[in-house]
Amino acid sequence: MSTILTGDRPTGRLHIGHLFGSLLTRVKLQAEYDTYVEVADVQALTDHFKQPEKIKDNVYEVVLDNLAAGLDPHRAIIFIQSLVPEIAELTVFFGNLVTLSRLERNPTVKSELEQKKSLFKGGVTYGFLGYPISQAADILAFKAEAVPVGADQEPMLEQAREIAHKFNAIYGKTFPEPRAIFSDFPRLKGLDGSVKMGKSLDNAIYLADEPAVIEKKVKTAVTDPQKVRRHDVGHPLICPVYSYQQIFNASQAKTIAHDCQTGKLGCVECKACLAQQIISYLAPLQERRAHYAQDMPKVRDIVRDGTAKARQRTRETMEEVREKMKINY
Ligand code: TRP
Repeated sequence: MSTILTGDRPTGRLHIGHLFGSLLTRVKLQAEYDTYVEVADVQALTDHFKQPEKIKDNVYEVVLDNLAAGLDPHRAIIFIQSLVPEIAELTVFFGNLVTLSRLERNPTVKSELEQKKSLFKGGVTYGFLGYPISQAADILAFKAEAVPVGADQEPMLEQAREIAHKFNAIYGKTFPEPRAIFSDFPRLKGLDGSVKMGKSLDNAIYLADEPAVIEKKVKTAVTDPQKVRRHDVGHPLICPVYSYQQIFNASQAKTIAHDCQTGKLGCVECKACLAQQIISYLAPLQERRAHYAQDMPKVRDIVRDGTAKARQRTRETMEEVREKMKINY
């Protein structure tokens, strides 16, 4: 069976953008692949090193969100990055294979630096600039062939492939060059109309949001600015609320678009209907989340078992790496 690996930074709970961008893909693929899901606490600390509490508080939230989405702990292996020191070791060795200018050119790192100007106003840390190397180690320590992620992660995979390629060329064939597996859904917009739903942007619906919270959030969502009154002609294709209708209410989406354009359907009504669709879509996920959350010792066991299995796998890789790098004294 081939292997996939993916991960989430535990900087907050996961939202419906994560669900359609990545969670549902991994849930689907767990039947066909050896599946590893990493809670990337070490990576999260690269831009939250001053807020260790925040990362700690969210590790198990992210585990619960993965279980809520349908990850089956009997099939998939869930583990915590910092508890697999082999990944840190591999990161150090990979550091020799990447230049600083290559890291500075990584588009994902670049746009994140733009957003985090104040954190790095005294200069960019070595840890943050180097996190693509650590992410390559996350993937390659497991010899994963494929990585289910959102499109924003493609530059990370490109770097991982370059590192694998260079390692193989110097030390002999060891690593596969991993490819991305993208979700079939278009990227979900934020409730405020921005291109992305983001934990740090305060424009998300979380998997664990209660019905009343979902209703409130949907009510405040941005719509077509030209549709002020119910009878105004709406433009569904530029409306964030309509983009959610297409996902959560696919069977009625055509009618909704028509009624919006002809002034038959107003935004208030449209949003009320959408909120109910999201609430009922999330209900079985929330039921699963609650089922696990009321037995946290069991959840901790799942993670402990997963981490032990992850370490076993990375230990095997590291034995081979040390042999190839001639540091197997
Ligand atoms: N960088 C990813 C994100 O921000 C999280 C991540 C960490 C990851 N390690 C990974 C994704 C390995 C895929 C594979 O969402």
